[in-house]
Amino acid sequence: MFIFKTHTELSEWLRLQKSENHSIGFVPTMGALHSGHIALVKKAIEQNDLALVSIFVNPKQFNNAIDFEKYPITTNEDIAFLESVGCHAVYIPAVDDIYPEGLAHVDLDLGMLNEVLEGPKRPGHFDGVVQVVHRFFSIIQPDKVYLGLKDFQQCKVIEALTNTYFPNIHLEFCATERELTGLAKSSRNMRLSEAGKASASHIYQALQHIAHQYKKEDLSSAKRAAILYLSKHQIEVEYLESANADTLTLTSQWQEPTHNVVLLAAYLENVRLIDNIQF
Ligand code: PAJ
Repeated sequence: MFIFKTHTELSEWLRLQKSENHSIGFVPTMGALHSGHIALVKKAIEQNDLALVSIFVNPKQFNNAIDFEKYPITTNEDIAFLESVGCHAVYIPAVDDIYPEGLAHVDLDLGMLNEVLEGPKRPGHFDGVVQVVHRFFSIIQPDKVYLGLKDFQQCKVIEALTNTYFPNIHLEFCATERELTGLAKSSRNMRLSEAGKASASHIYQALQHIAHQYKKEDLSSAKRAAILYLSKHQIEVEYLESANADTLTLTSQWQEPTHNVVLLAAYLENVRLIDNIQF
């Protein structure tokens, strides 16, 4: 597996590969890789000639400095994990390789996408995601990009960025990888105790229960019952919202089948977890 530390070496390799018509599947990550990330990498390997992963903890998307400092860095393990599944290349840049002096700020009006759910809870977060993903896409110009639906709103933000600036890049949204208990895989799960992990599995159960109630009862009462159920398992809901899965417009009405998404952020043992279900 090739390991690139700068965009100059990466670009040189990419130029060679593209001259031989090799397609590039790209998976952006912040490292601390788990099997959720690896599922994306395996798809990129299957569907392209070459799979490229980036590992970069993007300072611009952290609205909380402590969160940034505490972000786990496990580069050696990440490299071994990627190598073991047959990934072709990894790009591990330093901050000034991604944000060189004088790099222009990318303007993108996210409108409502930035005003709901994670937007107001994490001011500046999506702008930071836009800046870093724009930089990656400009350097790499991949054919396909693999993103996890666990971060449903992030998928919509990157879709808006891609439609505006990179219409030739194809985005693949991939299902959330879960533990057998239903808990969505996340590097934050490491911070939960065993009891906390068991409790956290109720998050997906609550989401599944809402989906199961589709048109059997009022959506608002299904959501209320879910919040109560979660509070009984020490899970404090920050938001539990339903939306149209295409536009992410919040709604209190059931949508047509497959166009419903219910999204949640919750705290458990001081760890903030997010999850969602589409039906
Ligand atoms: P990170 O949190 O490292 O996630 C990298 C990718 O893995 C994202 O597309 C995320 O949605 C996906 N992912 C995480 N957990 C998953 C799971 N359980 N199942 C499936 N996919 C999962 O998201 C970011 O990094 C950053 O914001 C980034 C896009 C790299 C920009 O800095």
